[in-house]
Amino acid sequence: MNIANLAKNYKDYVIDLRREFHMYPEISWEEVRTSKRVKEELDKMGIPYVSMAGTGVVATIEGKEKGKTVALRADMDALQVTEANDVEYKSKNEGVMHACGHDGHTSMLLGAAKILNDVKDDLEGTVKLFFQPAEELAQGAAKMIEEGCMDGVDGVFGIHLWSDLEYGKISVEAGPRMASADMFKIIVKGLGGHGSLPHQGIDAVVAGSAIVMDLQSVVSREISPLQSAVVSVGVFNSGTRFNVISSSAVLEGTTRCFDPEIRGRFPKVIERIAKNSANSYRAEAQLEYTYGTPPTINTEGASKLATTVVEKLYGTDAVGMMEKVTGGEDFAMYLEKAPGVIAFVGIRNEAKECDYPHHHERFNMDEDALEKGSALYAQYAIDFLNE
Ligand code: NI
Repeated sequence: MNIANLAKNYKDYVIDLRREFHMYPEISWEEVRTSKRVKEELDKMGIPYVSMAGTGVVATIEGKEKGKTVALRADMDALQVTEANDVEYKSKNEGVMHACGHDGHTSMLLGAAKILNDVKDDLEGTVKLFFQPAEELAQGAAKMIEEGCMDGVDGVFGIHLWSDLEYGKISVEAGPRMASADMFKIIVKGLGGHGSLPHQGIDAVVAGSAIVMDLQSVVSREISPLQSAVVSVGVFNSGTRFNVISSSAVLEGTTRCFDPEIRGRFPKVIERIAKNSANSYRAEAQLEYTYGTPPTINTEGASKLATTVVEKLYGTDAVGMMEKVTGGEDFAMYLEKAPGVIAFVGIRNEAKECDYPHHHERFNMDEDALEKGSALYAQYAIDFLNE
C-alpha cells in the first residue's frame, strides 16, 4: 500500500474540512462545533471514539493483529485574533481566528483516519487519534492525560504546521524542539502617601521597576551562555494618580527554556530577586509561579523513525532542518509519558501569500501541505507498529 497515493485521494476532503474549521473557529475549551464535526466524520468512517476532557475526542482504530499502541495527536482550538485575510473561507466568528494552523491539524488527522481505516486489516496494533482541546492555554493535554488518554500508549506523534518552514520540507529532528512556557506573577506591597512626600511612603512603582530591571540578570548572569532562556515581564500595573505614591504593583511575565533543570531553577531565582530588590526599597514582594508546559523534547529513536518515514513518503529532499523555537507546545506533556516526536510540516509559500507568522491576523498556509501531513501521520503510525 502506498500511503502517499492514498493521501492524494483525500486531498480535497482534507482541504474542504480545513476551510470549514477555519470558517468556524472556537477558542480553548469551547471547541463544541469542531468536536461535533470530528465525531460526525468518525461516525461516517465507522471509527469508534470516546469524549475526553470536555470537547476532546479519542478515536481508536484496531488492527487485525494485536500489537503496540501509537497515539496521533491534533489540537482543535483557535485564537482571539480578528482575521485580516480576504479569502472565501474567512472566519465567520468575529474576533476569533485559526491563526496557528490547528484547523489544519484537525483536518489532517481526519484525513489520516480515512487512510488508516482503509488499511486497518494490515495494521499490527492499535492507533489512537487524539483530538485535543485547549492547546493555546497549555491545559488540554494535561486534562486528556488526567482522564487516561495515555493509558497503554507506547508512542506518540504530533504535527505542527509551520510558517517559518518552506512548503515541502518536514522537520523531525531529535532533542529540544520547543521551549517550556510558564507564567509568573509578582505582587509588590508598599505604602501609599503623597507624591510630594515620598519618604513617608514606600513606593511600589520604584520597587517594581527595580524588580523588572534586576530580572534581566537571570538570563545574563545565572544561566550558562551556552544555554538559551527567556524571562519577560509583559504586565506592570501600579498606581492610581500622578501625585499619589503607589502602595502596590503587580507584575506578570513568562519564562522559556529548553532544559528541565533550568526550568526547575526559575521559581527560586525569580523569588530571590523579587524579594531582595523589593526589600532594598523597603517594600515586600511575593511570587506566584504557575507551571505551564515543559520543553518539547523529541526522542532520539522516534526522530530516527520519523526521518525514515519522511524519506519513504517524499524523498530525502523533504527532510528539513529547523532551529528550535521558543514557543511552547503542550504536546510536551504526552512526551513525558511516552517516546515520540513532534514534526514541523512546512506551509510557507510566498507566492501564495502564506508567509505571515503564527498568531498574525494574516496567517495562512499552503494547503498542499495538508495532504503531506495526513500521509505523515498515517505512515508514522504504520511504521511504528511494524517496528
Ligand atoms: Ni499552535
